[in-house]
Amino acid sequence: MITDSHGRTINYLRLAVTDKCNLRCTYCMPAVGLNWLPKAELMTTEEMLRISRLLITMGVEKIRITGGEPFVRKDLMPFLGELSKMLGHGLKEITLTTNGLLTEPYIPELKKLGIRSVNLSLDTLDRQRFIDITRRDALPQVLNTLEKLLLAGIAVKINTVVMEDCNTQDILPLVALTKSMPVSVRFIEEMPFNGGTHDISLSWNFSRIIEHIREQYPDLAKMQDPIHATALNYHIEGHQGDIGVIAAYTRSFCGSCNRLRITAKGGLRTCLYGQGVLNLKDLIRAGASDQVIEKQLLSAVLNKPLDGWEAEKNKTNNIIKQPSMATIGG
Ligand code: GTP
Ligand code: 5AD
Ligand code: SF4
Repeated sequence: MITDSHGRTINYLRLAVTDKCNLRCTYCMPAVGLNWLPKAELMTTEEMLRISRLLITMGVEKIRITGGEPFVRKDLMPFLGELSKMLGHGLKEITLTTNGLLTEPYIPELKKLGIRSVNLSLDTLDRQRFIDITRRDALPQVLNTLEKLLLAGIAVKINTVVMEDCNTQDILPLVALTKSMPVSVRFIEEMPFNGGTHDISLSWNFSRIIEHIREQYPDLAKMQDPIHATALNYHIEGHQGDIGVIAAYTRSFCGSCNRLRITAKGGLRTCLYGQGVLNLKDLIRAGASDQVIEKQLLSAVLNKPLDGWEAEKNKTNNIIKQPSMATIGG
C-alpha cells in the first residue's frame, strides 16, 4: 500500500496513452496549430506495462486509461490485453475515459478483458451543438457507442462539461436520459485546462446546476457518495440512472485524493495542478532498474502536495491557465 506523507492512500492511476485526439473540444484545445508528440516521445506498450506492474506492486488497484483519446492509439487493444492479465493480481479495476468515436467496434473485446465501466465524454444531445463544441460532426457515433456499451452490460458515466451560453439547455435533456437508461450523467464545472483557448465564466457552478435540475425534478435526492468520488451524486425516483455534479472548480478534492497521473510522454504528476515531478520514460530509457524506479516513485508520492488546487487558486489570483487536459490525461 502506498500512503503519502499526509496519510492519503494512493491506489488510483490515471494513465494517458496519447496526447492526440480526434475531436477539438473548445474547452480543451484550439482548432488548429496543435503539435502532437512525435511517436518516439510517447511511452511504448512495454514501458507502460512495466510502470503499471511496478505501481500495482506498490499498491495501485485501479487504472484509468485516458488520453487525448485512448482509441486513437493504434496499439491500445494489445496493451489492454496485457494489462488485463494483471487483474486479480493486485489490480482490481481497469477503466477508460473516451469520447466514444472509435470505441464501438472494440466493445465485445473490452468486455472480454474484464472492463466493467467506461466514462464517456458527451456535452450535448443536439447535433449542431455537438459540432459547435467539438468542431466535428460525430454525435451519432457517440450515441451508438453509448447504446452498445449499455447493451454489453458495461456501466457508463457520461461526462458533460457545463458552459454558459453553450450547452446549459442540454442539462435537462441529459437528466431525462437517466429515466430510460441506467447511466450516470455527471455535469462538470469547467476547469482552467483549455490550453488558454478561452476564459471561464463559471456562472453555472455546482449550486446553479443543482437548482436548475431541482426546478424540474423537486424530488432530486442526494445519494451517499463513494469515498474517493469526484462527483456529488443524486437520484430521481423512478429513474434507472443517476446524476452527478463534479464541482471541479468550486470544491477541492485534495483532502481525499487517491490519484497519480502519468502523461503520454511518461511524466508522473502527483497532482492535477502540479508540474511533472519525474519522467518515468526517461528513467527507463536510461536503463534504471525496477528498484531505482520504485524508489523514485515512492519519493515522488511521499511529496504529493496536500492541497494543489488551493495553492494554484491563491498563487495565480484566479487567472489560471493550465495546459490542455489532453496532455495530462484529464
Ligand atoms: P471515476 O473513477 O468514475 O470517479 O472517474 P473520474 O471522475 O476520476 O474520472 P473522469 O476521467 O471521468 O473525469 C471526470 C472529471 O473529473 C474530469 O473533468 C476530470 O478532470 C475531473 N477530475 C478527475 N480527477 C480530478 C482531480 O484529481 N482533481 C480535480 N479537481 N478534478 C478531477
Ligand atoms: N474542464 C472540465 N472538464 C474537462 N474535461 C476536459 N477538459 C475539461 C475542462 N477544461 C473532461 C472531459 C473528459 C474528462 C476526462 O475531462 O469532458 O470527460
Ligand atoms: Fe478530445 Fe477529450 Fe479534449 Fe474533447 S475533451 S478534445 S474529446 S481530449
